[in-house]
Amino acid sequence: MISDIWSDPRDFKTSLAESARAVEVVMDQLIPVPDGPEARVHEAMRYAILAGGKRLRPFLVLAGSALFGVSQRSALRVATAIELLHTYSLIHDDLPAMDNSDLRRGKPTCHKAFDDATAILAGDALLTLAFEVLADAETHGDPAVRCELVTALAKASGAVGMVGCQMIDILAESDPTLDIGEITRLQRLKTGALIAFSSEAGAILGKAPLDLRRVLVAYAHDIGLAFQIADDLLDTEGTAAETGKSVGRDAVAGKATFVSILGIEGARAQAEALVEQATNHLEVFADKAALLRDCARYIIERKS
Ligand code: IPE
Ligand code: IPE
Ligand code: MG
Ligand code: MG
Ligand code: MG
Repeated sequence: MISDIWSDPRDFKTSLAESARAVEVVMDQLIPVPDGPEARVHEAMRYAILAGGKRLRPFLVLAGSALFGVSQRSALRVATAIELLHTYSLIHDDLPAMDNSDLRRGKPTCHKAFDDATAILAGDALLTLAFEVLADAETHGDPAVRCELVTALAKASGAVGMVGCQMIDILAESDPTLDIGEITRLQRLKTGALIAFSSEAGAILGKAPLDLRRVLVAYAHDIGLAFQIADDLLDTEGTAAETGKSVGRDAVAGKATFVSILGIEGARAQAEALVEQATNHLEVFADKAALLRDCARYIIERKS
């Protein structure tokens, strides 16, 4: 059970750190040890994955799984899959053809430390490994559950999810006329789709009733958007030292973001309102959802 990781009631920061450590152990086991003529791509995968990061998506999988009594082994494997996929999205997002960023998780980006071709391949390999992990019988005894996880992650990350919105994000650089509705849809899906998968995965693993799944969908909807607003604010107000990544890129690229449209105060107020709404959705879980409530607040108060 997940309580193996969170055996006593812990505060949010401790739980986040402990779930990050647990997922890092699994990732370390799953990513090939550099070997053979292809060792370079294994090294690049390890470089990007083991560089750190908040591990927020794994935390959401684990905290959601704890609501439904899911086994720790299953939850950790799904938590690992989403972090592998998320890290692929960051490696590709940083490439010169996309955001052209030099710093990620406090270190040179993957293409800077290696080269563009290696970074592309490392991203591809992390993406495919994520689906291999979900499809493996180790992840859940019921093939229907594994199939549902694979389908849900494919939809969240693909052409009408994260990838589709990365496309719009790039086009938005040359189209500053996007209105708030279009920006909201773009930003919600760019980040929100993977956050939504992470929030719902425990309910899929635990075969939760539809009404409870809907609660998590609603929670994810709000925190996903709040997360991206916080990211846009950090790009404006944060420092590279604190965030561990290049900042000020959105304004340089002329991107339409929540900050460019609503202004700093407007964006912050919107994020606050979303967090309030997100935590209200969780009422049905009472105290059991305390960590998810704390997580929603952390999403907008974080400095990295
Ligand atoms: C950054 O994600 C990219 C976005 C989706 C906005 P995170 O802020 O979760 O990055 P890490 O995983 O902590 O490095
Ligand atoms: C990236 O959004 C979202 C992804 C799908 C990877 P950003 O381009 O705003 O992320 P950062 O600010 O580089 O982390
Ligand atoms: Mg980007
Ligand atoms: Mg970027
Ligand atoms: Mg950003």
